Amino acid sequence: MSTTRTLLEGFTEHHRVLDEAFSAARQAVDKADWETAPGAFHRFWNAIEIHMTTEEDSLFPVYEARYGQENPTTGILRKGHRDLRGFFEEIGETIADHDSAEASALMGTVAQILIHHDEKEETEFYPMVTPLILHPEDVLSRLAGPPGGSP
Ligand SMILES: [Fe+2]
Ligand SMILES: [Fe+2]
Repeated sequence: MSTTRTLLEGFTEHHRVLDEAFSAARQAVDKADWETAPGAFHRFWNAIEIHMTTEEDSLFPVYEARYGQENPTTGILRKGHRDLRGFFEEIGETIADHDSAEASALMGTVAQILIHHDEKEETEFYPMVTPLILHPEDVLSRLAGPPGGSP
């Protein structure tokens, strides 16, 4: 029995790691804990930026080469990443302003976007791209980020 993680398993596990990092940041913001919130949010932001960049560099192009640039899946996922990045900028600003109410509201919206985005990836995209990736461990190793880096 192989102990190698599939691409589907590795990216799905990383979604849960990101969920925990996001929830730590959200709790700190909800409590207006300005000692903890900026670091917690930036750890999450760095980690999800690595995750999204890895999908954009290593998975979306392979899927698009097989299923076409105009496929209905990666277009929606790419738009999701753009929307999330816009929200992360805004959340970073509201945390810097110590605006707990606004940051909490934005993080609630991000939580909803992430539920749908992650579900689409885990049920539609990862299962279809997994057979197209010949060396999943090379891609999965990127998710950990630079040595000594993020979660
Ligand atoms: Fe994604
Ligand atoms: Fe993802």
